[in-house]
Amino acid sequence: MSEPRVFFPGSTIGVMGGGQLGRMFAIAARRMGYRVHTFSPDEDTPTGQLADREVAARYDDEAAVRDFARGVDVLTFEFENIPVQTVEWAAECCVVRPSAKVLHVCQHRLREKEFLDQAGVPLPGFQAVGSAGDLAAAVAELGLPAVLKTAAFGYDGKGQRKIAPGDNLVEAWAPFAGTGAVLEQFVRFEKEVSVLVARGVDGRTATYPVCENVHRNHILDVTIVPANIAPAAAERACALAVRIAEQLDLVGLLAVEMFLLADGGILINELAPRPHNSGHFSFDASATSQFEQQLRAVCGLPLGNTDSLCPSAMVNLLGDVWAGGEPDWAAVLAMPDVKLHLYGKAEPRAGRKMGHLVAFGATTEEAAARALAARSALKA
Ligand SMILES: Nc1ncnc2c1ncn2[C@@H]1O[C@H](COP(=O)(O)OP(=O)(O)OP(=O)(O)O)[C@@H](O)[C@H]1O
Ligand SMILES: [Mg+2]
Repeated sequence: MSEPRVFFPGSTIGVMGGGQLGRMFAIAARRMGYRVHTFSPDEDTPTGQLADREVAARYDDEAAVRDFARGVDVLTFEFENIPVQTVEWAAECCVVRPSAKVLHVCQHRLREKEFLDQAGVPLPGFQAVGSAGDLAAAVAELGLPAVLKTAAFGYDGKGQRKIAPGDNLVEAWAPFAGTGAVLEQFVRFEKEVSVLVARGVDGRTATYPVCENVHRNHILDVTIVPANIAPAAAERACALAVRIAEQLDLVGLLAVEMFLLADGGILINELAPRPHNSGHFSFDASATSQFEQQLRAVCGLPLGNTDSLCPSAMVNLLGDVWAGGEPDWAAVLAMPDVKLHLYGKAEPRAGRKMGHLVAFGATTEEAAARALAARSALKA
């Protein structure tokens, strides 16, 4: 077998997808002297605004995909719902990392759960559901409450429904008809945490300190780092993430979302083979950001130091922050321990991720208090 290829500064990286994760990746890559091209169906995307070249074409436009891939040295993605066929076309024209196989597993909830189950990783009980009859059988098997989730294209809690005792299962199934779905046991978790792990072409791995995440309306709201959990739980969480990255034979960055139980047990919720919202703290508060780490991994470079520089907290800025008019930027910019990130999206729709704030502190409590105060100040 030939040695894996290494791509040094001056090389061109292709990014499939045009969102904020690609935007921050582009910032990290261009800072280190790489060129960045991005491909998505849209124009003037968050990534495109920071890229050397933006291609707006459909993911099923084979000629456009091949042409794009021929113009880059290595291709990665910032969003896992890229059709696998698209990535396979690209892989005939350039190096693709992570592989189409990783994408294939992680873009489909049922495949992902079956993969994790086979890997011996603990996860909530689940059943595949393709009809109202399947749903009734799955409820009988798993019990209630439970959560019904579409198998593909879910994000920020879209395509999910909690099912409680007494609910009409035929009605509950109706919006899912025609799609594959998974029923999952409802987990009474103590905390939600996530682990970012990178794995290089040489198989070396590096994990970040565990992130503690609070969701609101199924969307990530606040992350504090390091998580306020027992050191033994943090160690187990990181070991699980490394094991999953190894089993996937990943080259790149992976976020592993987990439920931490009151008895100290951990169940895996889901995987994202790319930078993750919960890792945004790292842009400001880590020796190496998750975006630089993704770059290092996909370029075949040694991984960077994942230590935090100080305790930190991240809060998302959804379109709701704009509900009362233009946010009060001056108020936040006057806070010396708060960093403002905006994604260059024109329309602040409710629930849309428009940006985030990262705050530093002597403790995570102080950092979280600053981040929340800063977000409130924006709306004042
Ligand atoms: N089985 C479950 N038990 C309890 N809470 C759950 C369960 N599944 C999901 N949730 C809650 O809903 C949130 C979103 O679920 P999930 O991570 O599956 O969604 P998603 O739509 O894929 O979102 P994203 O990709 O943005 O993380 C979880 O972080 C958790 O707070
Ligand atoms: Mg999730």
